[in-house]
Formats: sequence, structure tokens, C-alpha cells
Amino acid sequence: MSDKECHPGEGRDLDVSGPQASPGRQSHVIRAVITGTGSYLPRARVTNDDLVARGVDTTDEWIVQRTGIKARHIADDTEPTSFMAARAAERAIHAAGLTPADIDGIIVATTTPDRTFPSVAVMVQAELGIGPCVAFDIQAVCSGFVYALSVASSMIQTGSAKNMLVIGAERFTNLIDWNDRTTCVLFGDGAGAVVVQAENGTGTMSDRGILSTHLYADGRQQGILCSTGGPGTTRTTGVTHMDGKEVFRHAVVHMAGVVDEALIKNGLSGGDIDWLIPHQANLRIISGIADRLGLGMDRVVVTVDHHGNTSAASIPLALDVAVRDGRVKPGQLVLLEALGAGLTWGAVVLRV
Ligand code: ACO
Repeated sequence: MSDKECHPGEGRDLDVSGPQASPGRQSHVIRAVITGTGSYLPRARVTNDDLVARGVDTTDEWIVQRTGIKARHIADDTEPTSFMAARAAERAIHAAGLTPADIDGIIVATTTPDRTFPSVAVMVQAELGIGPCVAFDIQAVCSGFVYALSVASSMIQTGSAKNMLVIGAERFTNLIDWNDRTTCVLFGDGAGAVVVQAENGTGTMSDRGILSTHLYADGRQQGILCSTGGPGTTRTTGVTHMDGKEVFRHAVVHMAGVVDEALIKNGLSGGDIDWLIPHQANLRIISGIADRLGLGMDRVVVTVDHHGNTSAASIPLALDVAVRDGRVKPGQLVLLEALGAGLTWGAVVLRV
């Protein structure tokens, strides 16, 4: 598919950054602190060999060598996006020591809502008995969680909300052409959620919470990764079209740029980061970024091998795995980064 077929629009860079921590300067700021995490993976686990058995013209060796993916979870019709989002949210609320009645804002990052409208956020709200409060979806594909967390941080800093649910949830395998081996082996389904709460900070790097956010989009590149349909054109969802080599090339350049920007803005070097939690698309891209930061892979949370690419769900899923297995501990400095269709990309520096 050409760029023209994907209806490219004008590209524009976005840079949304919260109040920046400065090592020497002290001031009163409100921080958005992650106080609980949760996740949900569909019951069905599908290995690379299972895909071969289902008739996909591929091999375990090819997939592992090119992407690092060994298996992914695939939702069935009892596990729509809102169901997975609600289960992850329940776990995050419980981990934060809150109840649904305490939540006063919900943002869901998703490209695969149950329905074209209304949003998954209001479905989660109704199912968990939250609100009335602000609730909406954000669509930035694989960068969706980083975008959603940045918006939540801004809302908390401006006093619009105090206890927000931020969820990444995807049934991305519904956007796959199972006859296209170049894309169908890459994706999986799942959901991850965090509770972010307002806490007073000092404006220094020792604060807990989100310390800076860095968001970008370049719509000129929409043709290299897009759905072939949509409600405003074909009245269908379409399936995923990807020029893998071009996406790979842009991913390396943009991820490196945004990670450098995040470090510089906070006066950090790679060695200061306790954990890199990247979007889980491809192990080769992840290890390239770790190399650039000078981080060993023992300080990178990797779940792409077992989850595949779960789009907006991948970062909160990986965060929850690493919090629950004890790797990510309170007080540690974490760098999140992602790139997705749009192209969109971004990074978040936070202290858990
Ligand atoms: N199994 C076996 N062979 C395959 C498969 C497969 N699943 N897929 C492609 N091939 C073949 C191709 O047909 C080609 O064969 P040929 O040489 O005979 O023509 C050969 O393998 C090489 O194909 P390439 O496309 O050149 O493979 P490449 O090395 O580029 O790897 C990949 C493909 C893994 C998709 C890589 O380009 C990549 O990871 N790109 C980035 C994808 C990404 O990160 N996406 C993230 C964003 S996703 C989002 O935002 C929704």
C-alpha cells in the first residue's frame, strides 16, 4: 500500500513536557505518582510452532531470530478489550490500596476499542462502578500508553484529578491478516494498568512520580504502518499494513533521539537509570536502545518473548510483571519509551 492509499495528512511535531525536575532548584510541585499496577493476559497462549500448525508459512527460528518473540496470548470473544482493561484496572486499584470509588479519572490507550464508540474508558467505568468522572480513550497506537500517562500527569498537575486510572489495552490480533506472515507473527493481546495519584513534590530529581514526558508525532510517515480501513472510509476496521524495514529504521532513529532528550532534560546519563521499560515490539530494537544507554540487558524489562507486540498494552504489562516479580522497587528511576504508527513516539522518566 502506498502513502496515498493510507491518506496521509500534514505531519506536526508535538512536545508536551511537565514541569522539569532540576537537581539544584527546590519548589513545590504536584507529582503524578504510580501507586499500583495490574495486568491481564488472555487465557490462550500461542507459540510460534502453534502458528505453524495453524498454517502460517513461517518457522520458530525465523520469528525468534528477527524479533525475539516465542509466544503471544490471543483473546477470544469472551475477552474483548474492555474486559481485559477492567481486569488489569481492578488489580492496579487493589495494588494501590484504593477502591473504585476513589478513582476520579480514566484514560484508556487503545487502537482496538470494543465498539467504534463509546470509549473503552466508559465501559471500564461502568463495569467497575467508578464515577461519574472524566473518562476517555487515547489512540496513539503503540505509543498510546506513554501518551496517556503524559496526559494523566498534566491533569494531575493542574488539579483536574487526584487518583487516575491509566490503562493500555489491546485486542490487536483482531487487526491482523492471518495470511500475511510479515505481520501476523508479531502481535498479541493483553492489558496493563496503573493508578497514578497526586503527591506533593519538591521539584527535584528525588521526587517520586513522573519527572518528565516527551511526546512526538510525524503524520508524514503514516503510510509505513497503518490499518487498511476505518469507520470513516471503508466502514470496516481494515487490517495492519506495515513496511517493516522502514518502521525499523525510523524506530532506531526516533527512539535514540527521544531517549537522549529525556536524559539531557533531567541531567541524567544512561547509568543513572535503574530500569528501561521499552515498548515491546522487537528484541533487536530494544537491545539497540539499551546499548546506546550503556545499560546491560539485566536492567531492561523484556516481555516481548512471551507477549509479542501488544501495542499500547506492552509497557504497562511489562511494568506490572517487573513490579510483581520484585525487580522494580519503590524509589527506582525508570525510563519508558515507545514508537508506534503515526508515526508517534515518546518517552517518560519517572521514579516509582
Ligand atoms: N516467516 C518466515 N519468513 C518471513 C516471514 C515470516 N513470518 N516474514 C517475512 N519473511 C521473509 C520475507 O518474505 C523475506 O523473504 P525473501 O527474502 O525471500 O523476500 C525475508 O523473510 C526477509 O523479510 P524482511 O521483511 O526483509 O525481514 P526483516 O529482516 O526486515 O524483518 C521485521 C521483518 C521483523 C518485521 C522487521 O522489519 C521489524 O521488526 N520491523 C519493525 C516492526 C516494528 O517494530 N513495529 C513496531 C511498531 S508496531 C505498531 O506500532 C502497531
